[in-house]
Amino acid sequence: MNLAFTFGGVSSEIYIEESLHDIRAIINADGGAFGGARLLVCDENTAGIANRIAASGAFGGDQAMSQTGGLCVLPAGESAKNWTNVEKILKTARDAGLGRDGVFIGVGGGVITDMTAFAASVYMRGAKLALIPTTLLGMVDAAVGGKTGFDLFGIKNFIGTFYPSPLIIMPLESLSTLPIREWRSGFAELLKTAVLDDSDDFLDRVGRLKDAFSSPDFPASMLQDSVLRKELLACIARSVEIKGRIVEEDPGEMGTRRRLLNLGHTFGHALESSVGLGILAHGEAVAWGIARACDLGRALGATGRDRAEKITGLLDSFGYETRAPHPRLKETGRFMDALFNDKKKKAGKLAFIVPEQRGCGVIFIEKTIERILHIINGEDA
Ligand SMILES: NC(=O)c1ccc[n+]([C@@H]2O[C@H](COP(=O)([O-])OP(=O)(O)OC[C@H]3O[C@@H](n4cnc5c(N)ncnc54)[C@H](O)[C@@H]3O)[C@@H](O)[C@H]2O)c1
Repeated sequence: MNLAFTFGGVSSEIYIEESLHDIRAIINADGGAFGGARLLVCDENTAGIANRIAASGAFGGDQAMSQTGGLCVLPAGESAKNWTNVEKILKTARDAGLGRDGVFIGVGGGVITDMTAFAASVYMRGAKLALIPTTLLGMVDAAVGGKTGFDLFGIKNFIGTFYPSPLIIMPLESLSTLPIREWRSGFAELLKTAVLDDSDDFLDRVGRLKDAFSSPDFPASMLQDSVLRKELLACIARSVEIKGRIVEEDPGEMGTRRRLLNLGHTFGHALESSVGLGILAHGEAVAWGIARACDLGRALGATGRDRAEKITGLLDSFGYETRAPHPRLKETGRFMDALFNDKKKKAGKLAFIVPEQRGCGVIFIEKTIERILHIINGEDA
């Protein structure tokens, strides 16, 4: 399946494929665009996937990965999303002799694709870039739309650029090794995008994947069933389509449109930091945040009861915690501090995304601390 977008004047072509083998033909199809020396960036958990893609000849001939020009294997996880590792990418590219026509190829989750894209954006004032996301979150969210970056001074994505990838390939097969915790993060983002859609069809479609997701032999229950695998592929494609169209309208996040993608994240990030980073999976926090966005929307009259119940019911059926107060939240004060330090604050006001009858809307809130307190404590606001 193939989708195309234009992000701030840059064309971004996205292929959603079943097999790792499909990548070879796509990368080698346009020798002109991706014909330069290639630097492969992955982490210790995705090196095996990168090796399999390399063995298929996707990076130039039937060679081992180490002979592709440059190879940079980084440690895994958010703690590796730092300047030291960006510098390592840049140094490997230089040592491999990449020029501005060199191609940086990121194979991994959002951490790898964000850092690889950042490195490409600053290497000799901008090298070529291709991304191969290998997590569900990377496919439905991180790799699409052009935001790059790494963490600095303890602040997530403090440094970054907008540098859309002209080529993104999503191989469904790579998800077979993804740990369940990472699937939970990806599904929460998928549900988030489904809530943003103008009709309930997408939400219902994601809902139909919940039995396979809850099955003890997941992910085999989904990936080895041809019908469910196709459904998952269609949901990823719809999510990419929705995010892509939103970003096309607001590529630099100058207006309010792109903010819609933060549904559940303002509450979710505050929960993640106040219970301690790493305690909850990102998706668990986002899912709880979507439930709180429903509560806030209801309190402000923007979200109808039926819609709020449908959304929270679906989150429940996927096994996410939706109750308020969150069982792990012991200190409301730390939650409120984290909430009001959100870096997406504009002119002192916090932007909350709340579900509406169709899709979602943005509400800027100033002095409603009392109301928010009621909502996270599960009281009537
Ligand atoms: N640029 C954007 O618009 C955007 C949007 C959302 C999130 N992000 C960023 O994405 C990051 C989160 O991405 P993520 O959830 O993919 O995390 P991640 O990249 O840390 O990957 C999660 C874990 O899964 C492992 N992994 C990846 N693919 C695997 C596979 N196929 N099999 C087995 N293990 C695999 C990784 O090594 C890691 O340990 C955050 O840093 C966030 O800031 C960026």
